[in-house]
Amino acid sequence: MLLAKAELKKYPKGREGSAIISILWIAQKQNKGWLSPDIIDYIAKFLDLPQIRVMEIATFYSMFNLNPVGTHHFQICGTTPCMLSGSENLKSLLREEIGEQSLVSKDNLSWVEVECLGACCNAPVIQINDDYYEDLAVTDLKNIIDDLRSGKEIKPGSYKDRLASAPDNKNMKILTEDEIEEIAKNRNKPGLEAKNA
Ligand code: FES
Repeated sequence: MLLAKAELKKYPKGREGSAIISILWIAQKQNKGWLSPDIIDYIAKFLDLPQIRVMEIATFYSMFNLNPVGTHHFQICGTTPCMLSGSENLKSLLREEIGEQSLVSKDNLSWVEVECLGACCNAPVIQINDDYYEDLAVTDLKNIIDDLRSGKEIKPGSYKDRLASAPDNKNMKILTEDEIEEIAKNRNKPGLEAKNA
């Protein structure tokens, strides 16, 4: 409640309803990762908004969970770049290891498929709680699940040891000045051909 009240102070008088996303997020964090109907009602009253306005936001963003989730909640991206990079195989593994999506396993894991997580350069991507796990192969995901089950720390970020979305070392090459010039010279310049034609 203290956090929610502090959040409200960031908004002008009469515009407190604009704090809805932050308030839902705080409430979800404090309720083991999900928003129950009671919480939605409470927030509607707290922000003096119709309950349907709160529901609209809570159902629009996949960051909000309307069902209980596990201590470790996996959100796997199923959008095209991740799908082309192997997310279907990762999904099969999640199904095998954890069960159907949106259910919580006996050992407190859950998963759900979501749309693009905005890290397509590092596809395939899974968000586990607040962190991203990227460039995942099936074996990487299996190791992550095993480590979580045995209480070990897991490493967020790229599993190809890339720095953010920089090329991996295998494909990285520092070009010489001459090589850069050569590439620039031969580069297709869209529009020029049309003009010269
Ligand atoms: S398509 Fe998966 S992160 Fe964008």
